[in-house]
Amino acid sequence: MEQTNRVALIVGVTGMVGVAFTEALKKPTALGGPWTVYGVSRRPLPTWFPSSLLDKHIMLDTLNQQQTHEIMAPLSSQITHVFWVALQVNESEQVNISLNSTMLSNVLNALTSSPNSKLSHVTLQTGTKQYLGPIFDPSLSAQLVPRDAPFIEDYPRLSFPNFYYALEDILTSYSKSLTYSIHRSSSIIGASTRSYFNTLLTLCVYALVCKHQNYPFRYPGNNYSWEHFWDMSDARVLVEQQIWASVTDKAKNEAFNCTNGDVFTWKMIWKVLCDTFGVEFVPFDEKEKFDFVDFMKDKGEVWDGIVEENGLYKTKMEEITCFDALGQVLKLEIQHVCSMNKSREFGFHGYANTLKSIPEWVQKLREMKILS
Ligand SMILES: NC(=O)c1ccc[n+]([C@@H]2O[C@H](COP(=O)([O-])OP(=O)(O)OC[C@H]3O[C@@H](n4cnc5c(N)ncnc54)[C@H](OP(=O)(O)O)[C@@H]3O)[C@@H](O)[C@H]2O)c1
Repeated sequence: MEQTNRVALIVGVTGMVGVAFTEALKKPTALGGPWTVYGVSRRPLPTWFPSSLLDKHIMLDTLNQQQTHEIMAPLSSQITHVFWVALQVNESEQVNISLNSTMLSNVLNALTSSPNSKLSHVTLQTGTKQYLGPIFDPSLSAQLVPRDAPFIEDYPRLSFPNFYYALEDILTSYSKSLTYSIHRSSSIIGASTRSYFNTLLTLCVYALVCKHQNYPFRYPGNNYSWEHFWDMSDARVLVEQQIWASVTDKAKNEAFNCTNGDVFTWKMIWKVLCDTFGVEFVPFDEKEKFDFVDFMKDKGEVWDGIVEENGLYKTKMEEITCFDALGQVLKLEIQHVCSMNKSREFGFHGYANTLKSIPEWVQKLREMKILS
């Protein structure tokens, strides 16, 4: 940990994990600090973003090669660490490979093109689709056979296209000039309106709509996930692991699962959500058919009303929720659990109590005026 004057570039700074990175890197106790922190997103910073913590916000579409080179190459003599938490999403996994690979390659090419490049480490956040395969690609999802839980980093890759594999391969191709670490997340809980897949915000919007309209707050998954063990990744644990890996020699060029380190059933989560939002707990009954996506599809106006009545940060329900993806995930018939043994054996001991994390993040979303 001898290097000083570290300059971080968070690509995807306004997503759940990007915000958590900004806050963690600017703490006086941040490992490897003090950090100068730059952040990239295409759109301007939203009003809820802690912009005073960011040394520079860079508005850039990293899909655009020329623009990325023009903006990033002059910063290559400053930036020492890239924290990669940006994401583009398409139904087709082949398109995901193309989009996300282009983004990562454009940034890494621009930052390593000069002999004065200071870039030394890149962290790449991926997830458990490493072990599940491309579950959201309708042409592939029915063929997938996931790895056995608990998921272990050494499992061989599945023989399906996967943008995570493509991003890992891009990173390893740079391994002569820089080090990297890969961080495989479970469903993330954090606070942002700019993340594509935001499980917590989706559930919170659903809970508030049910409360507002006096609908029962029904569980949209299946009996399997209601009763079996799952895990999640608190954005604060995710960034703690990535910062640790970025300044720890032993962790270089390794892949780590990153979850809270505990397990729960969705029945337990449902009770926590009911308590947090003051809605009645409805036990799951598989005999009652419930189409979550269909139920929510005409609730945009109800959400607009909740935003208006409570003076919340202006959001459109369809932009901040992922009912379709969440409904699919909660109907998987697997135990969605990662092993955290490798991470602990390498020296990372961060953890969170998921059932306590959820109300803490809801409180934060309320303080940010995203939720009432
Ligand atoms: N979310 C989850 O629950 C979850 C779970 C498991 C694994 N993961 C994995 O974790 C990784 C990161 O996902 P995430 O959820 O943390 O990301 P995310 O929050 O959805 O990423 C959004 C961020 O990326 C920025 N962005 C998107 N496209 C960009 C572009 N072309 N150029 C510059 N910035 C761009 C967005 O800002 P603008 O829109 O303003 O550009 C925003 O700041 C992915 O591999 C994902 O699959 C996520």
